[in-house]
Amino acid sequence: MPDWIIHEDKYEEADGVLLGNRYLVGNGYVGIRGTLEEYKADKLPAINLAGIYDRVGDNWREPINLPNACYSYLRVDGDIYTLPEREPVSHRMELSYRHGLFSRTTTWHTARGNITLSTERFASMANVHIIGMKFAITADFHADVELLTGIDTDVWDINGPHLENKVMEDENGSLRVIATTHEQHKTVVVCESVKVNYAGESKTTVKDDKILHRLFFVTKPGEKYTAEKFVTIFTSNDGPDPASKAVSLNRLSAERGYEALKDEHVAVWEELWSHSEVELTGDEQAETALNYSLYHLHSIAPRHTDSLSIPARGLSGQTYKGAVFWDTEMFMLDFFLMTDPKTARILMKYRIDTLDGAMKKAASYGYDGAFYAWESQEGGYDACSDYNVTDVFTGRPMRTFFKDKQIHISAAIVYGICRYAEWTGDNSILDHNGVKTVIECAKFYYSALLKHVSGRDIYELHDVIGPDEYHERVNNNGYTNRMAKFTFESAVKVIKNAMDEGTLPKEYDGLKLVEEFTDAAEKIYIPQPSAEPGHVGVIPQFDGYFDKEDASLSQVRDRIINEKEYWGGAYGIASDTQIIKQADVVTWLNLFSREHDREELRTNWEYYEPRTEHGSSLSAGMYAMLACKIGEPDKAYPFFIKSASADLRGGGKEWAGLIYIGGTHPAAAGAAYMTAVEGFAGITIENGKPVCHPSLPKSIKAMKFKIFYQGKEYLVNIEGDKGTIEGL
Ligand code: BGC
Repeated sequence: MPDWIIHEDKYEEADGVLLGNRYLVGNGYVGIRGTLEEYKADKLPAINLAGIYDRVGDNWREPINLPNACYSYLRVDGDIYTLPEREPVSHRMELSYRHGLFSRTTTWHTARGNITLSTERFASMANVHIIGMKFAITADFHADVELLTGIDTDVWDINGPHLENKVMEDENGSLRVIATTHEQHKTVVVCESVKVNYAGESKTTVKDDKILHRLFFVTKPGEKYTAEKFVTIFTSNDGPDPASKAVSLNRLSAERGYEALKDEHVAVWEELWSHSEVELTGDEQAETALNYSLYHLHSIAPRHTDSLSIPARGLSGQTYKGAVFWDTEMFMLDFFLMTDPKTARILMKYRIDTLDGAMKKAASYGYDGAFYAWESQEGGYDACSDYNVTDVFTGRPMRTFFKDKQIHISAAIVYGICRYAEWTGDNSILDHNGVKTVIECAKFYYSALLKHVSGRDIYELHDVIGPDEYHERVNNNGYTNRMAKFTFESAVKVIKNAMDEGTLPKEYDGLKLVEEFTDAAEKIYIPQPSAEPGHVGVIPQFDGYFDKEDASLSQVRDRIINEKEYWGGAYGIASDTQIIKQADVVTWLNLFSREHDREELRTNWEYYEPRTEHGSSLSAGMYAMLACKIGEPDKAYPFFIKSASADLRGGGKEWAGLIYIGGTHPAAAGAAYMTAVEGFAGITIENGKPVCHPSLPKSIKAMKFKIFYQGKEYLVNIEGDKGTIEGL
């Protein structure tokens, strides 16, 4: 049985950044990187806040890292004891991914004896505005100890500084920092107080951008000295007067005490796991990696609101601008649909509520309807820049086309909304604005169609980028076209239904739209398997794909001049070859596998896999899922493990030049879940009911988990190739 603990048993300074991601704790409102309390901004600590963004000058807009209220360190006999400056006798770091508890224990040798500092912290799941922390200090001598803990306002920022007008206050030992964001002048308040179990002097100091308690005491050998710390956070997004809210919640938290708050937090985690834990008997590695992935998804789910989504790097920092991508709908949504449908609704509501932003974007490119942000921030603002990559050779920004050409994003929104409605049975998502969202996305594709090019009786989509971002501005990317067809078909259903119910928003001419979208769905060109020797049965990813050089991945890799060079774009080493960044045709076939026979699925999997760099963490999961659908769970397995271990093992790209681009990988976590539940267990809906068609890889002997479907919960039990589903 896994113990739901991951740990490091020694200190390696170089691992700090990676561990910041791996040991993250969060509650959807904040994510606290798994860094040590003594770390200053250069070591990338962060309390990353969901949903508030800021822009300084022409820099990229990104989310805020709050003043670091976990900041703490020890002074013993007048000397500072911190890592990495003082080599420890021993050091251990732990994360309970069952309960979102981060802890560390470090022992140092001093001139007069050994001293041990242990800390524990959590971002409360019971009340997202609270962070709880506990310190325990023991020494084997009469040490003169000073525990310094408070708030460090010198935070790590990629494109900051975002916080201005910083005020640091001490009100009777309760410390607070109030600041405003640069662009929109939003107020951010962080408040903290400390309760100690020993008698000792205490002072407050304000120095070097930090406001700190200085807690003095002398240890008796072997005795434990503890301190509890309560951090409360509010912003103007949480309603009026965030400062009083933070202060009064802080007082209340201190009254209740660390253990009571922790119990409440743990109880919420237990409740979440009671619906979402996946048991994989026989394969502890897979079970650990999978549930650890689910831990991350839970930790960043915006349960505290009714409309917000999850950034591509979760709440692990400011990389990817804290923006929301297609990752949510296509990779993470299913996990929430099946284990926590309320959260799934919050995610989809965010898209419906950002329709205006999408309509403005469409209009700015001369389209009708809704063209969703490739990198969505609040209000649907597209944070993607026209120059999203810096060329390593010239140091110049490179023109990239993700924002203007990755039009498959709007279909992902429709896919998410329709899947939500179907899976949960909650059609209220398709109220006025929900229907509008689907229709406007269909209108967008309709306006992008090229009809009868060269006299052919088909409609095409030209000049796009598919999921494989290495090939820019291609015509008829199969994934994009198939998703556009799906959008037209979905819009027709939604419109007909709204017309029947008399709920179609007045501004639409339902009959005309049904006619146009039906025609578009029929005529949009869907690339077909090739009959040409060399790639019989293979669907070309886009027009002319097979004319690209068929170099192997290793041949292309050998052409690298600088290990950080970008593989796509105008001069990218992959651009003129058949090497692709991530699953593209395979993503399409996975979503619509029922429209293709097994042989066709297999032929395409086998053709594309060796030509895929898997340069995105989104890729492996799609290959894993399609392998399951081909009936090859053992072939799926290594891709599943790769996807499930994206944050446990790391290994993804962390730096682009001097720019940190790492963070957690929630889409890979979501894909791992889908592979286990929809792939290995084969959960699908037949005749309005969930059924399973298990096909387990060799190492997994049995599976047990629960899923929600249309408001009802089911227990799924799989042993070998047999499975049962029982309504609860
Ligand atoms: C991938 C995109 C993905 C984004 C965020 C990129 O590297 O190519 O498909 O949406 O990362 O995860």
